[in-house]
Amino acid sequence: MACFDYKTRAMYIGFVVLVSMLVCSFAHLQRFEHPAKADGTLSFLVVGDWGRNGNFNQSEVALQMGRIGEKLDIDFVVSTGDNFYDDGLKGVNDPAFEESFTKVYTAKSLQKQWYSVLGNHDYRGDVEAQLSPVLRKIDSRWLCLRSFIVNAEIVEIFFVDTTPLVDKYMTDKEHSYDWRGLSSRKNYISNTLKDLEMALSESTAKWKFVVGHHAIRSAGYHGDTPELIRHLLPILKANNVDFYTNGHDHCLGHIASHDSPIQFLTSGAGSKAWRGYVNPNYGNALKFFHDGQGFMSVELSPTNAQIVLYDVFGKILHKLSMSKELLHSAI
Ligand SMILES: *[C@@H]1O[C@H](CO)[C@@H](O)[C@H](O)[C@H]1NC(C)=O
Repeated sequence: MACFDYKTRAMYIGFVVLVSMLVCSFAHLQRFEHPAKADGTLSFLVVGDWGRNGNFNQSEVALQMGRIGEKLDIDFVVSTGDNFYDDGLKGVNDPAFEESFTKVYTAKSLQKQWYSVLGNHDYRGDVEAQLSPVLRKIDSRWLCLRSFIVNAEIVEIFFVDTTPLVDKYMTDKEHSYDWRGLSSRKNYISNTLKDLEMALSESTAKWKFVVGHHAIRSAGYHGDTPELIRHLLPILKANNVDFYTNGHDHCLGHIASHDSPIQFLTSGAGSKAWRGYVNPNYGNALKFFHDGQGFMSVELSPTNAQIVLYDVFGKILHKLSMSKELLHSAI
């Protein structure tokens, strides 16, 4: 070191700082602590594929989310992505942010933290805008990041940015995608999966939820995502994940696994729906399917999970109750 001249030393220090910045930003998923209720329970809503200025029943779904949110005294809201149609946000000043979010989800019970992932439609706009803290200044409920963790004591929720894993967007000639910030797809995917695997294996939470935009399993029009079955599912299976929830298919769905406890829940019915398709090949693994608008609620205690799917009128369509002990001793 002593023989380094000033310039070499400055470059060396710059290099070390750069490397540690890279290591810090890639080696660990950002974590947010969200306290559970005083009695140790927690409840939240899950909605996906919604931002259409209130159209296509988005406002009706929002109204019912407000009502159910009040009833369950929810702690936060999870968005499974495709937050703004058709092409994400144009920038941090895009009025769509307020027209499709702030002015739609106006109920008192929805004035909580929202945790959001990006969907493929969000990648068609200015991705950095949705991730920007500037939006949090406009509406403090907003938090959208690529991949991150919410630790809510009895549950850890792992949010995964699934769009870069899906091959077809790389060759889609009809739309352009904003891949800024992802230096190399291969590294991005392998780092994201490695970080997720590490975080899941270290988690001591009673319940483990994983959230992504694309389905691992879905009976809707888009259906299963082969890339996620190949790369993501084995990690979830190896780490006792209880639930995987997604949007992308504009419907509500529940598919059970035959070789692990994982339940696959689609909640992508926040606005435009009625695609008119259900995959007939799931047999009795398909526990429920609704080809229309709606949303999902999750209520957790240390021993029980209750998931409920609601339609556009807030009517209960499907209920799933899980006991932690039973769930794992059954395998
Ligand atoms: C809104 O919901 C109602 C009730 O399900 C349905 O009849 C109507 O077609 C929906 N509108 C749209 C645009 O999906």
